[in-house]
Amino acid sequence: MKKLTVVGGVPLCGEICASGSKNAALPILFASLSVRGKSVIKNVPDIGDVRVAIELLRFFGAKVKRNGGTVTVDAASVEYRVPSAECTSKLRASTYLIGACLARFGICRLSPFGGCDFAPRPIDLHLLAAEVLGADVEEGSVSAKGLVGAKIKLPKISVGATVNALIMCASARGESIIYGYAAEPHVMNLIEFLRSGGADIRIEGDFIRVKGCVIENAHVTVIGDMIEAGTYAVSALASGGEVSVRGVEPTELYALNSLLQKGGASVTEKDGAVFYSGRLTREISVIAAPYPDFPTDLQPPMSVALALGSGGRIEDSVFPERFGYLSQLSHFGIRSKAGYLGAHIYPAASVVSAAVRAPDLRGGAACLIAALCANGESVISSAEKLARGYESLTEKLNSLGARIKAE
Ligand code: UD1
Repeated sequence: MKKLTVVGGVPLCGEICASGSKNAALPILFASLSVRGKSVIKNVPDIGDVRVAIELLRFFGAKVKRNGGTVTVDAASVEYRVPSAECTSKLRASTYLIGACLARFGICRLSPFGGCDFAPRPIDLHLLAAEVLGADVEEGSVSAKGLVGAKIKLPKISVGATVNALIMCASARGESIIYGYAAEPHVMNLIEFLRSGGADIRIEGDFIRVKGCVIENAHVTVIGDMIEAGTYAVSALASGGEVSVRGVEPTELYALNSLLQKGGASVTEKDGAVFYSGRLTREISVIAAPYPDFPTDLQPPMSVALALGSGGRIEDSVFPERFGYLSQLSHFGIRSKAGYLGAHIYPAASVVSAAVRAPDLRGGAACLIAALCANGESVISSAEKLARGYESLTEKLNSLGARIKAE
């Protein structure tokens, strides 16, 4: 999928079911490399990033099979090889090779790690966790002659570093303690997977205690994607429609839902589904921060709902510079002012159609929402960036009344 042609101006209405979470599936898939036998992973979304992750697992010799949403990884006989920079630079989650390869092979070359480049994305905390567990970090690679449990203190909340720490601790000899961990639902889903393989992992207030083991087999069901669900919820409100979202645990959407209600939208929950309607009639302030606060991944989509409502402010404490996408939104007539302390989004009575380039996955989602709200035909190029993280994107939105053609 390279290009999306969107005829906008239709309020999105109907019901949608979230797919498996990208941010949960990727850590689990990479963690399966540390499992010495079979991993059975259910509800894995068929998205670009997952395909690249599977390609990487196969590169190390893992036998990977997909049957519907179930991916089986047999990593009984794998061996370390240096993956191509071309492959690792396609996705940020390739940083999880650090933990998985150290746990399994005792070595990992630090390849160029890719993904969305909306802000600097250092890996110092990932390496700190590895070093504390006994690894040597040298120029360009990290190695260990067996990881040994230890106390890891992460000075900043990082999903990536927490994931790598968990993968390593679960295979390390002895007990580890992780302070300053990220508590995102996708981190909890990874813990569930590692526990199924025998690792003793307990959350004890402000730290996680991990007793490592040799993991022979593991299994898990990937949770529903709260970012995908939130993207569709915000799309419906921005377009003046109403949508019911299933497939995701409603409590995970608490920060989004309470903010939408504060802004004047109606959010109701029934039988596990969340129903969204109305507009953002009051100005609101969005502050993206680690879970359980508002997710950084939803602030770009949210900006369009703000513009088509009463406007508001966005701050992002996880990635303070994550506002590059606003320049693409300006082509739709969405006015904003971004500075060091965040961005102000001005209300727009309507938006106009435009031809834009998706800047990254979630910035691209924001462009798509603007296109869905604009009267006339818009074109979004570099649309493969959206396919990296949204399963059946055009089919799902078209089922709500959108008119999107993918090429
Ligand atoms: C972040 C989000 C995650 C989201 C993902 C993709 C949080 C806590 N994390 O995860 O939910 O799915 O982006 O958009 O909301 N950092 C360092 N050194 C490191 C690692 C991180 O300084 O070694 C900093 C980052 O620059 C950032 C913060 O820590 O300011 C959080 O980064 P991190 O959680 O690791 O990012 P992702 O794992 O990519």
